[in-house]
Amino acid sequence: MAEQRRSAYLNGGRVERTTRGVRRSQQHRWPAAVTEALLMLRQAGFAGAPLVLEQAAAGTVELTWIPGRVLPDPVPRWAARRSVLRSVIDLVAAATRSGTGVGSRLVSHDWLVPPMAGDCFIHGDPHPGNVVFERRQPVGLIDFEVATVGSDITALASLIFGWAPAEPLPITPWRGRVSDADAAARVREIARRWPTAHGPEPLVGAMGEFLDWRAGWLRLLSNAGNQNARAALLHANDPDYRRASCARVADALQEG
Ligand SMILES: Nc1ncnc2c1ncn2[C@@H]1O[C@H](COP(=O)(O)OP(=O)(O)OP(=O)(O)O)[C@@H](O)[C@H]1O
Ligand SMILES: [Mg+2]
Repeated sequence: MAEQRRSAYLNGGRVERTTRGVRRSQQHRWPAAVTEALLMLRQAGFAGAPLVLEQAAAGTVELTWIPGRVLPDPVPRWAARRSVLRSVIDLVAAATRSGTGVGSRLVSHDWLVPPMAGDCFIHGDPHPGNVVFERRQPVGLIDFEVATVGSDITALASLIFGWAPAEPLPITPWRGRVSDADAAARVREIARRWPTAHGPEPLVGAMGEFLDWRAGWLRLLSNAGNQNARAALLHANDPDYRRASCARVADALQEG
């Protein structure tokens, strides 16, 4: 009861603050492979991700709290600064480095949707609403339910997708904050700063692989009643949208 009084819903009702952290309740199951991989990520030295405290039922899980706030939609003006982008690149790159090799050490292979090719545990959806900030500095990543196994280059593609962004601007939290030219420059900045160099062609290919995988989990979440996923799926299912996102990355890298 005392816990219930202290609880507050943090989104549409799926995430709730508890005394120890946050509790997610959803229609679909929380994947066991993510629980195991989050522990391995922590053991490998990445402290900016939550750990699972308890799994009460298939779709209910309690996680540790990461102090700070995620960015609203649309993002505030300061979030579009290049210095912020650089810190976010470093955070996601650090998580990806700690996730290297985790795939083959896992006992459980229960993911929400089939993973991508590779052996690296990756967040998979590091958009501005899933990065925790403290004093305008990115300190952590949350919302790991679709986290998966992929490769270094698909982690890079997912970061470009969320933070350049790669999608046509009007439908992203960057609308009014980033122009097409800024977005292209941000694609190049992310690719340049990422610790591993990848050529334009493999990177555009990885973007295509990432978008197909993303459409898979959006479909699953949408079928389970998630309204945000349902809205995003309308774009994700459109071949023109997929082509446009890949073309934005290809053009940006060609200009550079
Ligand atoms: N471990 C955590 N630490 C700190 N804050 C969290 C944590 N988990 C969730 N939150 C807060 O709760 C909000 C919603 O969490 P989350 O991003 O996991 O779900 P969601 O994106 O709303 O749901 P979904 O993606 O399933 O539709 C976040 O925006 C953040 O404010
Ligand atoms: Mg989220």
